[in-house]
Amino acid sequence: MTPASAPFVCHGCGARVDAAAALPFRCPNAGADDVDHLLLPVDGAPVFPSVREDNPYLRYRHLLSPYRLARSAGLSDDAWTEFVGRLDEQLVDIDGSGFRITPMAAQPELAQAIGFGGALWVKNETGNVSGSHKARHLMGVMLYLRVIAAARLSVGDGLTHRRLAIASCGNAALAAAVIARAADWPLDVFIPPDASAAVVSRLKELGARISVCARQGGEAGDPCFLRFREAVQAGAIPFGVQGTENGLAVEGARTLAFEMAEAFAVARQAPEAVFVQVGGGALASALGQGLALAAAAGLIAKAPRLIAVQTAGCAPLDRAWRKMADAHLAEAGQHRSRFMWPWESVPHSIAHGILDDETYDWLEIVKAMQQTGGRSLVVDEETLARANELGRRLTGIPASATGTAGLAGLMADPTGSGPAAVIFSGVDR
Ligand SMILES: Cc1ncc(COP(=O)(O)O)c(C=O)c1O
Repeated sequence: MTPASAPFVCHGCGARVDAAAALPFRCPNAGADDVDHLLLPVDGAPVFPSVREDNPYLRYRHLLSPYRLARSAGLSDDAWTEFVGRLDEQLVDIDGSGFRITPMAAQPELAQAIGFGGALWVKNETGNVSGSHKARHLMGVMLYLRVIAAARLSVGDGLTHRRLAIASCGNAALAAAVIARAADWPLDVFIPPDASAAVVSRLKELGARISVCARQGGEAGDPCFLRFREAVQAGAIPFGVQGTENGLAVEGARTLAFEMAEAFAVARQAPEAVFVQVGGGALASALGQGLALAAAAGLIAKAPRLIAVQTAGCAPLDRAWRKMADAHLAEAGQHRSRFMWPWESVPHSIAHGILDDETYDWLEIVKAMQQTGGRSLVVDEETLARANELGRRLTGIPASATGTAGLAGLMADPTGSGPAAVIFSGVDR
């Protein structure tokens, strides 16, 4: 048998990490220079399923690096089905539902109300595990942890004694807490002082250990993220949704793009644009990567234009995108701080879930925007509020203002004609 292997490559420095032998979390060269370090799985030829399987981690398993690692380590297909199935049963017990393909439907009334001439498709993630798409990211990480333990790979030695850690104020923290609980793994959550009381109480119910992180004078960047990094340096497993901190986090959410591409293929629609709300950037990065894979597999004719939507209150990706006008991607990847740095003022918006000080996963988004002819958009508070009101009323989907911010982007620029898609995520709590 060939030795177990699941290669990852850093998109900035080219470092190779084999997930069978070393944890593919942060690039080993990160922190030493100004390069944008991010570990990406080396994808095989994209194979889309021909069978009907409604759990995305079963349906798309051939497209997931933890599955490929499991098989190369000698674990059977049934073993994978069992990991996914057991976690899913626990998720149902803890949160009421496991992972299932989420609905996506054309919303003609909404399209008409915002003056968009093409078909408008809304993917509804509010009914996903813990109420948003965020759990997709973390399921990918948890499956990797399960595989290395079951295959007794030495890279997993001692891991069960290390706590999981995440920095987040809302949906991602809840997702992490639900998945950690399903896996019976202790979790530390770093949250800001203004995190919602409902979120904090649910985190406590789920058994997460909470650290409240206030801003400290003279410190640049999100204090929750800084404390999270310290915890990871002290031995915690990065269980957050920033690709830069864990190379597996973005991959798990590519399943969202796969589902969208399959739904478009079934409806015989060629999506022209996807408008996506951007905070830390993992969602848009996953969509860009997943739609590119779907296009490479011939499922859709080409990857739709990726349009990244941020709020006027906090738009570090938009700032980077403007600076990119006269720079090449490769050059930007070597000089991160010229393009991406923490937002200087304390941001406010009704879309508070996308107020990340930095767009950690910015470079993959920029790449996808360049490759698809997409762009960055900044929306004001009035448009965000109107998008949320119209989006909820005309679709019946109870999404938060963060979760309808992609629609606000389309409202700010409804000039396209082709099918466009938005993702409603983050149930209003
Ligand atoms: C509902 C919702 N949509 C989108 C996002 C943006 O995701 P990302 O931080 O990966 O850009 C968030 C982030 O918290 C969110 O809660």
